[in-house]
This record gives sequence, structure tokens and C-alpha cells, in this order.
Amino acid sequence: NSLGEEELYRPNFHFTPEQNWMNDPNGMFFYEGQYHLFFQHYPDGNTWGPMHWGHATSENLLDWDEKPIAIYPDELGYIFSGSAVVDLENTSGLAEDGETPIIAMFTYHDAEAEKNGSTTFQSQAIAYSLDQGQTWKKYDGNPVIKNPGIRDFRDPKIQWDELNEQWIMVLAAQDKSLFYTSKNLTDWELAFEFGNKIGAHGGVWECPDFFPIQVKDSNETKWVLIQSLNPGAYNGGSGTQYFVGDFDGKNFTPVADQKNLEANHTYWLDFGKDNYAGVTWANTNMKEDHKLFIGWMSNWQYAEKVPTTKWRSSMTFPRELTLVKKEDSSYRLFSEPANQIDKISKQKRQESKIKSAENTLLLADDSKFEMDKLRVKLKVTISGNKRYTFNLSNDQGDSLVFGFHSADNTFFIDRSKSGKINFSEKFAEKISTAPRTSDDDLLEVEILLDKTSIELFYDEGETVMTEIFFPNSPMTQLELITSEDNFTIEDLNIYQLEL
Ligand code: FRU
Repeated sequence: NSLGEEELYRPNFHFTPEQNWMNDPNGMFFYEGQYHLFFQHYPDGNTWGPMHWGHATSENLLDWDEKPIAIYPDELGYIFSGSAVVDLENTSGLAEDGETPIIAMFTYHDAEAEKNGSTTFQSQAIAYSLDQGQTWKKYDGNPVIKNPGIRDFRDPKIQWDELNEQWIMVLAAQDKSLFYTSKNLTDWELAFEFGNKIGAHGGVWECPDFFPIQVKDSNETKWVLIQSLNPGAYNGGSGTQYFVGDFDGKNFTPVADQKNLEANHTYWLDFGKDNYAGVTWANTNMKEDHKLFIGWMSNWQYAEKVPTTKWRSSMTFPRELTLVKKEDSSYRLFSEPANQIDKISKQKRQESKIKSAENTLLLADDSKFEMDKLRVKLKVTISGNKRYTFNLSNDQGDSLVFGFHSADNTFFIDRSKSGKINFSEKFAEKISTAPRTSDDDLLEVEILLDKTSIELFYDEGETVMTEIFFPNSPMTQLELITSEDNFTIEDLNIYQLEL
């Protein structure tokens, strides 16, 4: 193929660093009209290495402006994942009176100490910005939380707890989440822990997030704990589970149906293999029932081997999380593309009640559509025992298939013939979700399609699948294939994203 890596694989509307390695999103906050995104970054190579915090800003979550590196490693260690908050009341005292510091908290990873056999090489530290997040100073009193004797002790995420007027921070400690409280962001006290005998434990817990959210269409507020782990995801490798419950300022108690969650009953934020270490933005002025989220669109099983060289890996499209109370009284976290996408969605096709036969061409890359910046919304009536398979393909025989299988009530995705797959045997696996919880015979899907990623939001975002793929040449058509002779596409909307 004559197209270079840039044209073939660099995403159109997903953040990727200009050069070299990236993993987790870090320290996201919104301030003075700017969305800030930091990220685990190794600026000197395209695999994982001594970690820095890279930095990018955006006004619309679509166009990202990569900035100079925000935080460099030093003699205390590499700069691992963490979070940032806008300290509106200057509770930290790190700014002059009347000014607003931004406080970042991250993990120092002392690689030297690790090499010398220490097991206490991770500790928590602070950096702050007095210029709206442009430049960062490390706090003199680092580390602010020393290692208590736990090998994996990292990824602090801070949240203001309005009810109890305190900062609350959660971090991952091997197989648990540990919660700390503080009045000033520099002195922290261990409050409680969570995780024994609950949830998935097939690997180390990493990158938690803990926040209040108003339940959709109600006045009730719940707290959500997002907790990534690696390995041990539903479909192997890296993945993100979540817990819903109540927080009284001292303890987090999961709701009744989550009390006895075992590994295979865990709730997953995303069933695809490529949404990891995702957390939410601080200080957005979103409504109380929404949180803005972004994840790393890769998986430690193969992240360092994916077939790009100049840069490696990208983020998911930013998402809005909402908490829905279902009829059976369970609570589920739904994800949808951040609404900023509406501004660039140009409707190209709108049709209802399309009578369809076995094989329906939904769209082809011709003068009308560019397949690598596309948003599709589709509703179809389903019936028992049938398979509804979307096939995204090109004329070189690459094909990415995904859809719904009503016999076992699951969604699936299969990228085993989607192009370059040989870099890892874990990449090609066909995967599916836990059984669909809705029994509605109207199936809805929203699809975001970029050059190397697909994001699938089923049932208004209750079930999500995010995966990357590397075709030998651009994909050129999308069809819907079913084992049913006559079926109806109730509604089809195709949007070109105008970037
Ligand atoms: C998750 C993670 C974090 C850690 C960072 C290091 O992907 O392992 O736990 O802070 O990556 O880059």
C-alpha cells in the first residue's frame, strides 16, 4: 500500500500525541474556557519509558493543541498517573490571596529503588500551577503521602466532597481502593478502604475515580467508584469496572445489588478491549447528572506493538457519563459521545422504515461519505435467534464485523480479519459482552468511526464497545447482514463529521 502511516492511521478526531508514546489520561480539568488533558508520555521513544505528563488543551474537545511537557521526572522518580483540581478557594494556600491555584497530584515511581529490590518505590506528590495550568512547579514538601509498605500504590484522583467540606482522594493499592481526606490538599489522612471480596480481581487495580452524580431524572445522588484493573478485564487484559453506592464522608457502601458482586457479575464501563484507565474531568460546569470522561484507547496486552511508529496510541472520544436507575432498581453508568460532537455532525442521510433483506448496504465511501470521520445512528427491530452483523470492509478483503446475536443476547465484535493483526495473538480475539439487560425489541446503536477506531454505544450507551483496528487500506463500506429475510431498519441517520 502506498499510503504512509500518517494518512493511513493517524486519527481524525481522537487525540494522539504528535510523537512517541502515550498511555493513561491524567489530570483533566476545565478552566477559563479550556479543557486540559494531561497524559502518561515518554517523549523519547514509542514504547513505555520514564514517564512524563504530556499536555494538550482544547476549547471544544475536538481540536487539541499539544503543549510543552507539563511535568518532568526527577530524582524522586518517574511521574505516574494522577489527577488535578482547580482549588477555587485556595484551600492549599499555594497561591496569593485571591488567586486560584491548580493542584495536580501524581505518583512518583522510583525506578532506581525498584531495581535495588525495594517494594516501597511508589509515593504521592503534588505539583501546582499559578498560571491556569500552563506551567507547573513541584511542591517543596513532596512526597505528601509516603509509601506505607504496599508495592502497587498509585494513581491518586481528587474530588471535592461538598457535603463534608473536604477533599477526598482515592488511589489504587494492589487489590483495593484506598480513600484519603484532606482540608488543604497537602496533608492527607487515610479514611477507609474498599475492594475486599468485591469486584473483579484478575490483576492489579489501577487508576480509580470516585465522584457524586445525580441519578438521571431524579433528585437522588449516588457515588460512583470507577476502578480499572490489569489484567483481568471482562475480555482479557486491561479494563474498567465500576461500583455504585452511598458515601457518608467516612465510608462507601455499595447499593444492595452490588454488595455481593463477584468477578463475573461486575459492571463494566466498556466491553471492548480498548478503553483503559479512563477518569473524569474536574471543574466542568456540566449539570450534576453528567460527568465528562476520557479513556486510553489501548490495552497493555499489545499497546506497545500496535503498527504505528511515529506516535503510539490515542484516547477515546470524550464521553458523557450518566447514572440510570433501572426498573429492577439496579444502577448503571451509561456513556455517550460528548455533545460537542453535535456541532460538527452534518447530516447526510436520514431515512425511516427501510424495508431490508438479508444484506443491506448502509453506506459506501463515494463522493458522499468519508468513512474515517463518521457518526451513524441506527435503530432496528430485532427478533429471537437472529444475528445482526455489521460489516465494515474495504476492497482488499479487510473486514471488521460487529453486532448483536439474539440467541445468546450479546453484542460482539470480531477484528480477526480487519487488517494488520499479527503483532499480537491477543489482538485478534473475537469478543462479546455480558448479556444485554434490556428486553426491548428495538435495538439502538450509535457508531463513531475513525481511521483506526470504532466506538459502539448500544441501548443509549448502557453497553459500550471500543476497539482499535489497522486496515491495510482505508475501509470503504458498511453493510448490515442478517439471518432474517425481511426486517425493518426503523431509523437510520448518517452524519459526516466536519473537522
Ligand atoms: C495504568 C498505569 C498506572 C500507572 C501508569 C504508568 O495504565 O499502569 O497504574 O500510573 O500506567 O505509566
